[in-house]
Amino acid sequence: MASDVVTARVAPLQAALLDDPVAFLSAEHARQTVLLAHLERVARAPLARAARGLAAMLLRWLTTELPVHIEDEERSLYPLLAAHDASGVLRTLQAQHRENQRAIRAVMAGLHRTAAGDAPEPAFAAAALAFATGHRRHLALEEAVVTPLARRVLTPHALAALADEMARRRS
Ligand SMILES: [Fe+2]
Ligand SMILES: [Fe+2]
Repeated sequence: MASDVVTARVAPLQAALLDDPVAFLSAEHARQTVLLAHLERVARAPLARAARGLAAMLLRWLTTELPVHIEDEERSLYPLLAAHDASGVLRTLQAQHRENQRAIRAVMAGLHRTAAGDAPEPAFAAAALAFATGHRRHLALEEAVVTPLARRVLTPHALAALADEMARRRS
């Protein structure tokens, strides 16, 4: 089935890749970009044949995987970078995480209906497209500012501690 192929292509990353936790988070960002494109596809055509499978996959991402990624950042990565954050970008990113949580609740209602083969509420498309745009902007900011900052300031010891905490969240 087409949706199985899609699912395989965006399968969660293997924890063994955590040897380089900054690269791992960047790889998750790349994967999230793919998932956002799928969300936009579902928003535009929720009754298309592949939409049900995609909606189920997107629900798994939003309920079980994205919260772990955000915990990695807020509890593990950002605290390691806080002393080096002259521009205050970490506070902006945390505010975006909060804003995302509100948007996700609206998006999930529509995804649940789509995954069940029902038409989503009329407001779903606008909510999903707005979330995709906002989250893409968030990912771009993290890649432009946080990833290079982490590469510059994290010591091997800090990277090992970060990798340990991220591995524990996935065990
Ligand atoms: Fe984030
Ligand atoms: Fe992120």
